[in-house]
Amino acid sequence: MTANSTVLQLLPADLQRERLPRHVAVIMDGNGRWAKRRGMPRIMGHRRGVDVLKDLLRCCRDWGIEALTAYAFSTENWGRPLEEVEFLMMLFERVLKQELREMMQEKVRIRFVGNLHALPLSLQAEIERAVEATANNSGIQFTVATNYGGRQEIIQACRSIAEKVQQGLIEPEQIDEALFERHLYTAGICDPDLLIRTSGEMRLSNFLLWQMAYGELYVTNTLWPDFDRNEFHQALCAYQQRDRRFGKL
Ligand code: FPP
Repeated sequence: MTANSTVLQLLPADLQRERLPRHVAVIMDGNGRWAKRRGMPRIMGHRRGVDVLKDLLRCCRDWGIEALTAYAFSTENWGRPLEEVEFLMMLFERVLKQELREMMQEKVRIRFVGNLHALPLSLQAEIERAVEATANNSGIQFTVATNYGGRQEIIQACRSIAEKVQQGLIEPEQIDEALFERHLYTAGICDPDLLIRTSGEMRLSNFLLWQMAYGELYVTNTLWPDFDRNEFHQALCAYQQRDRRFGKL
């Protein structure tokens, strides 16, 4: 049995393989509320959120989706209580350490986008290790947005292009969408076709502002820790009913 026929078998029958999104992005909202409703500290929601993300990554791979991007920590999240920020940094580091072996087995290519220099040094080292180790894997592209802000990403791209213009390396007339995209954190990763946001809020919250120009948005009231394969299936069904015209008729 080929890998491709395995994918076909596992994909729910009501989904059309040729109309699946190539790239899915997720805003994993609602961890704190999920924990609070159960009388638990917020961090328990984040812990559970990691398990949900792992299962979604596996599900994307099983169903033949090429790329998954998750918004793990925004530039605004530094404003949370220090205890929660420290817990999240520790959680990212621990998950990376624990999951590297499995990511290698499952051929995941992990990449991080965001201003990584502001992260704790030990986390930066773990990120570098995981990115390097998985760089040549041939499976799903998993991108983690950490200390990520869409506006900041655009500003840093402008700065980097302006510097090259100043140095005479590019002419202003050469600046087009393709060149601009090569200066974003996400250079080389196709734009998301579908962005799923859990827990009901209907906004982008500074996530992938450039990349989501024509991406489809799907919002569910389900809190992230309760987002399972069944919910993902529903999101994909809704996506497949959309008429994507990219501004054309
Ligand atoms: C939003 O819920 C969630 C976060 C800011 C953190 C999400 C991070 C993870 C699930 C860990 C991912 C780990 C790796 C290694 C990629 P919230 O706290 O804003 O919930 P609330 O809206 O109910 O308060």
